[in-house]
Amino acid sequence: MPSSTAPAPTAFFPSPETMDVLFSKEEIAARTKEIGTQISKDYEGQSVVLIGVLKGAAIFLSDLARAIKVDNTFDFVAVSSYGRARVSSGAVKLIKDIDNPIEGKHVIIVEDILDTGLTLNYLRGLMLQHKPASLKIATCLDKPERRLVPIEADYVAFKIPNRFVIGYGMDYAERYRGVEDIRIFPEDAAH
Ligand code: IMP
Repeated sequence: MPSSTAPAPTAFFPSPETMDVLFSKEEIAARTKEIGTQISKDYEGQSVVLIGVLKGAAIFLSDLARAIKVDNTFDFVAVSSYGRARVSSGAVKLIKDIDNPIEGKHVIIVEDILDTGLTLNYLRGLMLQHKPASLKIATCLDKPERRLVPIEADYVAFKIPNRFVIGYGMDYAERYRGVEDIRIFPEDAAH
């Protein structure tokens, strides 16, 4: 009998091994390093504050921070999420604000996926109210086809088509965040 406390795979939560890999952990690591190098060049001689959007961006931020060679600190915000729904309600709510002031600082918001753009559009407006010296956006994935508001990221690891993905911090109903590759969640498992 299995002694694991993890829920058994079901039709809703199939095993990640059954899902197609979109980007392997090696591809993700290589691309994250490249973005870290680019950010290090762009901010040479300066300090940068990375603001991660919980929970999805936590893993990307931790890899990115280690790939950035300029002085950096990080902070986190949390916003209302989709929960189990796969379509955004359009309403974004701040659940956790930044802990430290960012006025006069160079800030990069770090996100897992830029999808409709509603979350980052809202967060960008909110962060600008704090009067940072500069504000940029880094995202692991970008789904340009899904955009509802005009917003682009300054640093994008991968552009992807309109598919629902999990892994590398990204979830379906809070599952699969620890999956190392980015995989395509099977459409027929979602309800
Ligand atoms: P936006 O406000 O529509 O841009 O939503 C961005 C957020 O939606 C991301 O931070 C993710 O939490 C979530 N999201 C969008 N697409 C996916 C996906 O394919 N997998 C997992 N989460 C997603």
